[in-house]
Amino acid sequence: MTRKKMMAGNWKMNKTVAEAVVLTQDISNQYDKEWEGVDVVLCPPFVDLKPAKTVLDFDKVKISVGAQNVHWEPEGAFTGEISVAMLKEIGCEYCIVGHSERRTLFGETDEMVNKKTRALIAGGIAPIVCVGESLAVRDAGETEEYVCAQVRAAFAGLDAVEVKDAVVAYEPIWAIGTGRTATPEQAQEVCAAVRATVAELFGEETAQNMRVLYGGSMKPENVEGLICQPDIDGGLIGGAALKAASFRQLVEACLS
Ligand code: 13P
Repeated sequence: MTRKKMMAGNWKMNKTVAEAVVLTQDISNQYDKEWEGVDVVLCPPFVDLKPAKTVLDFDKVKISVGAQNVHWEPEGAFTGEISVAMLKEIGCEYCIVGHSERRTLFGETDEMVNKKTRALIAGGIAPIVCVGESLAVRDAGETEEYVCAQVRAAFAGLDAVEVKDAVVAYEPIWAIGTGRTATPEQAQEVCAAVRATVAELFGEETAQNMRVLYGGSMKPENVEGLICQPDIDGGLIGGAALKAASFRQLVEACLS
């Protein structure tokens, strides 16, 4: 089984439109035909999605754009929210859901993550479902139980056909933006447990086809050890995705 690797940049709340166009152009300028062997995704803030997509389309490079959040309702009185159809129309192929920053800072629950995941799948956008434990959970020895429960909750009510394009990103909260990466062994262990949970829910074939990413201080200096693990299919990158040079190194690490 060879899953196509994925390198996704989560820009979080960084880059104005003008800055996003510059960074997208910088990344596009580094594009090499070899990159077709990796699914490369840029997830800038909402307002940057269309400008970034325009740059990528103009350059005819195979790099996708993804959003960082979405609302599950199709339309209506939900001030400040963005729908699946709005993302779809501008060519968004992916959307991050359940990032730990949204769970902890904005009160996103497992139930909301599930609603978003289902709405995205119904609307033809692949969810990148984020899961991950706090340091307290890890110290209590409950990491796998906690993370696998998040996976089950996110995919509740869905079947194997529906989840076939979904991606899971394992991001231990204690490793995000801290410079403290999970060791390759720690990351592999949890990513394997995520895949086993997907197998339990949807069968072995679906589990073998689903990409499981690692995120949390992944950078050119530590990518090699993580990416060669059997159950780690790429990365969801914060800080190191904000510079074209380091992002290129991360993409190229997926090719070797
Ligand atoms: P850092 O790579 O900055 O640790 O962020 C990881 C992350 O949260 C990606 O979603």
